Amino acid sequence: MKVIIVVGARPNFMKAAPILRAIADANNHGAAIKPVLVHTGQHYDTVMSDAFFTDLSLPKPDVHLGIGSASHAIQTAKIMRQFEGVLEDQRPDVVIVVGDVNSTVACALVTAKVSFDAQGSRPLLAHVEAGLRSFDRTMPEECNRIVTDHLSDLLFVTEESGLHNLSHEGIPPDRVFLVGNTMIDSLLSCEQRAEQSSILDDLKLAPSMGDGSSNTKPYLLLTLHRPANVDNHDAFIEILEGLKGAADGQAIIFPAHPRTQKKIQQHKLDSYFSLRTSSPQKERGGNGVTTIDPLGYLDFLCLMKHAALVVTDSGGIQEETTCLGVPCVTVRNNTERPITLTAGTNVLGGTQRDTIRAAIRHQLQRTHHRSFPERWDGKAGARIVEILVEQQLGRNVDFQNPVPAVYALT
Ligand code: UD1
Repeated sequence: MKVIIVVGARPNFMKAAPILRAIADANNHGAAIKPVLVHTGQHYDTVMSDAFFTDLSLPKPDVHLGIGSASHAIQTAKIMRQFEGVLEDQRPDVVIVVGDVNSTVACALVTAKVSFDAQGSRPLLAHVEAGLRSFDRTMPEECNRIVTDHLSDLLFVTEESGLHNLSHEGIPPDRVFLVGNTMIDSLLSCEQRAEQSSILDDLKLAPSMGDGSSNTKPYLLLTLHRPANVDNHDAFIEILEGLKGAADGQAIIFPAHPRTQKKIQQHKLDSYFSLRTSSPQKERGGNGVTTIDPLGYLDFLCLMKHAALVVTDSGGIQEETTCLGVPCVTVRNNTERPITLTAGTNVLGGTQRDTIRAAIRHQLQRTHHRSFPERWDGKAGARIVEILVEQQLGRNVDFQNPVPAVYALT
């Protein structure tokens, strides 16, 4: 079985790595699966891409499309044009797309429509992280999720809400599998190594659960990059005002996405931030928000694990903080990951200064408590590979209860 796995943007890498590892495990137990890693190049900076390959021990991509940045239409179209050639060359049995970025939907569209012969045969299309819905179609990711799910033959779901959403949308249940969360597979497998990171020392920060005996300080961690939050000048200011005074004097460390860094310049918002420097601890001031460049996976995981609180508009970070037990304020009015609100440490802080400030104050009182939703146990990648093998062999899978792989291929 030849399996293409598509990655393109930062949040894809940690979702794909456990699947590649599970394929290698399956092959060690007698399977014969050939993985082909395709990187679209949607994210291309060292800090947004290469660093993750190193930290997650991902192999060098077999194919790199080198697409880069462009408008949504152009980026999606460029990926589609090139990916069609990749499918013709590789003729895989399965294409796996992960998450909800433009690379995901572009490759899903091509796979669903390609035809290898007069019978119209094509690869199976599998979507990892299927079924999530914010019900907000102004988010590009929501459009990408809906289209990808409706084109997919196999839908791998992370949380129960995904099963309900797909059922309401009429997706046949025999295509849908609650397998857990491959992003959490990565977190669990990298957590110990992340503890070796020197990032806290480098930034002179203390773990929030530390004994407070050193000259270092607890801190909040901030990430913002959603177009709705940072592209609009007034919306961005509203969030920055919400942060003012809410952190109880603690530093706010802000590894800023390239999109956000550009917007800070464009909107002339520098006065809200401390100067960028390799020693941000010396530069805190004003609002107490210190920007640094985006971090690699292990450094970021370490910083997230030891933060007093995380403020974010990312999807994946809501899930990661839930499993790390770190209180999280999501600067949005909705989330496609409701399990993080009901079972985890996440609250919606909205996008107005007052609601954000209130949510931060509330969350700073909260105790740290790790929680792991159903099947977020480090075995999602193995479940996915087992299901692919079973499908390839034409066997029925018990989709309600796909168990970790035995890899018996007789
Ligand atoms: C994309 C995803 C989003 C995901 C985010 C994580 C879509 C629709 N959005 O948003 O779901 O949460 O990635 O990072 O696919 N840029 C660089 N260097 C890079 C990559 C991007 O400077 O390596 C700049 C681009 O020039 C552009 C901006 O970042 O100005 C946007 O990049 P793009 O990949 O189109 O979308 P993201 O905002 O990163």
